[in-house]
Amino acid sequence: MIIKSQAPAIEEIQWVKNEVALIHERNRQRGFATWCNHEFDFTCPSSVTYPFQWFWDSCFHAIALSHVDIKKGEAELVSLLKNQHSDGFVSHVTFWQRDAFEEMVSTYAIAFRSKYLSDEMQPPLLAEAVAAVADRGRGAEFTREILPGVRRFYEWLHITRNPYGDGLIRVVQPDETGLDHSPMWDELMNIQDEEQESWERGWHSICDPYDAFDRDPKKMIELNHFVVADVMTNVIYIENLRVLARLCRDIDDEDGALVYEDRANKAVQSLEKLCWNEEDGLYYGVNGKENKQLRVNTFTSLMPLLLPDLEQRKVDLLIKHITDPAEYWAEYPIPSVAMNHPTYRPETVGGNLVWRGPSWMNSNWYLARGLQRHGRLDLARHIAHQSMAMVKASGIREYYNPQTANGHGAPDFSWSTILVDLVVGVA
Ligand code: GLC
Repeated sequence: MIIKSQAPAIEEIQWVKNEVALIHERNRQRGFATWCNHEFDFTCPSSVTYPFQWFWDSCFHAIALSHVDIKKGEAELVSLLKNQHSDGFVSHVTFWQRDAFEEMVSTYAIAFRSKYLSDEMQPPLLAEAVAAVADRGRGAEFTREILPGVRRFYEWLHITRNPYGDGLIRVVQPDETGLDHSPMWDELMNIQDEEQESWERGWHSICDPYDAFDRDPKKMIELNHFVVADVMTNVIYIENLRVLARLCRDIDDEDGALVYEDRANKAVQSLEKLCWNEEDGLYYGVNGKENKQLRVNTFTSLMPLLLPDLEQRKVDLLIKHITDPAEYWAEYPIPSVAMNHPTYRPETVGGNLVWRGPSWMNSNWYLARGLQRHGRLDLARHIAHQSMAMVKASGIREYYNPQTANGHGAPDFSWSTILVDLVVGVA
């Protein structure tokens, strides 16, 4: 395959910026919520299917917005933290306008802490989002305003989700990784077929037992039936601890910076020890206090490429997997599941089971940056070009067929606008 390694043209970058600005105008939600007495101003993932505020979506939105509209980017993050809980936790969904969408909410499989706030986490890329908005906007002034809440959230993760003291954070149900229906979970959830109902049954088998003790975090972990250190979630955590350290330095807090750097380094050591699989040359998430590897080849196995301190031998092995046409080097990379894995499906299956094969913009963004960090700007640019080609072919969609660029899932899907940072980043 020919690698498109030229820098994106100025006109292409401008075209992407225009598309991005349009989506954030169309999907913007503004108003006042009487249940919490707060104003809100954020971009929802999709006006059609997801009208509420999701945690990691909002972080991607803020990074995209930092290129086109700083005010909206700031407002997105401020809204996200408005209903932060007293323990530092930030819900993965804030149902700002729930009363207008009761019927839609009844179709979601989501755990609630209260009527308007979920009791789940999502991948913690909040520090990266703050840094993007601060760097292209008001700098340390914005950082100073928002950092206290951000730090309380990372303390919550450290205290509540690092149960074995190895520095890795654990999720207690699959959707906490944001990768809801990934085949990584099939075994733990006892999934036998590709139907939405089977997945929902699996989800209830994991989550219903938690209700008996009111989702007490300690007890959920003690139950030991889904206590996963997911590779992607932890790589994002590590990256964000390091960004958090930098943000602390921006406001002259050297002691704070050192704490986060120590946590990041410890997590890297545990990731190497527990998640690396020498035989396959890939990283896998581990489950439970036994740390059993979940040996399914998905894009998360490649995510440690984002770590700048990854040893060269492992960098080379991961790049070999990415550029193998049998595994990940599709016409429109990077598929979310290796194409030679038996569960790989290029398009939607079972109603709307996600993360079982199609290519997504957010994973392309992370992996392209990883490639770039390890000297492979050529491959990163190729991913950027093919990502733009997907949008040209099908518009801004939730995910794409890696072989044909057919768009699937929600139309006008907001986090796909992270494309702008991918394209600018390789220019
Ligand atoms: C789906 C995705 C999740 C995302 C949400 C809103 O549930 O799996 O990652 O946050 O939609 O876009």
